Amino acid sequence: MARRKKIYEGKAKTLFEGPEPGTIVQYFKDDATAFNAQKKDVIEGKGVLNNMLSEYFMNGLTNVGIPNHFIRRLNMREQLVRACEIVPLEVIVRNFAAGSMAQRLGIEEGTTLPRPVVEYCLKDDKLGDPLVTEEHIAAFGWASQQDMDDILSLALRVNDFLSGVMYAVDIKLVDFKIEIGRVYDGDFQRLIVADEISPDSCRLWDIETGKKLDKDVFRRDLGSLTDAYTEVARRLGVMPKGGTHMTRPTLVN
Ligand code: TMP
Ligand code: ASP
Repeated sequence: MARRKKIYEGKAKTLFEGPEPGTIVQYFKDDATAFNAQKKDVIEGKGVLNNMLSEYFMNGLTNVGIPNHFIRRLNMREQLVRACEIVPLEVIVRNFAAGSMAQRLGIEEGTTLPRPVVEYCLKDDKLGDPLVTEEHIAAFGWASQQDMDDILSLALRVNDFLSGVMYAVDIKLVDFKIEIGRVYDGDFQRLIVADEISPDSCRLWDIETGKKLDKDVFRRDLGSLTDAYTEVARRLGVMPKGGTHMTRPTLVN
């Protein structure tokens, strides 16, 4: 059987050429990294959970009219997505101070922000994904002014959607990161939400107890990451049938 062509291997996912032109197979690994891969581990079942959770969130975005790359889930670890050019920015939206913002500005973690704060980081692991301003983005041509308007609007729409979905299951959406892809429809280009939306790329706190249900559990050694992600999946009604142990990958052609 012909082996699929690997296009790219990242820290948490591998991308393969898809079965039709313009598609990509996104494979979710069990690898967890933090602090620009200085901390690494393999967390059994994480890839399965993130595949299911990203499917759930992307389908939700589609249902409220927010364009994204998701086409369909193929199996426990793989999903078919639309191929796109990734804009080299990590787009972060924060509702409460935490993580690098809390540290940088000396704000206590958990402080409610007066409005959602959107930040941009340059996607460059060698530089540690530095925070950049719209001036840098314009000056170095990473995105146009029209792109930035569209990206801001997408980011805030995703924030409203995700905050509501999480609130409905007693989880506070503290912050999250999305990536944006550029797709071409004939002569037109447009921007869509790409990559993944999962507890790897969000901060999720239980509303009652403040318990962390996201990758900070791994970053800060707070317990079992699989238990935390399983809790999020369970509350949302997204549970892999038979648990996360049926994880043998199936190849798609
Ligand atoms: P930060 O507070 O560490 O800057 O993270 C902000 C949000 O972005 C948080 O939800 C975690 C997410 N994030 C990623 O998804 N990938 C990354 O490489 C980093 C640094 C943060
Ligand atoms: N910085 C990412 C995180 O902490 C992961 C990594 O860069 O290895 O989420």
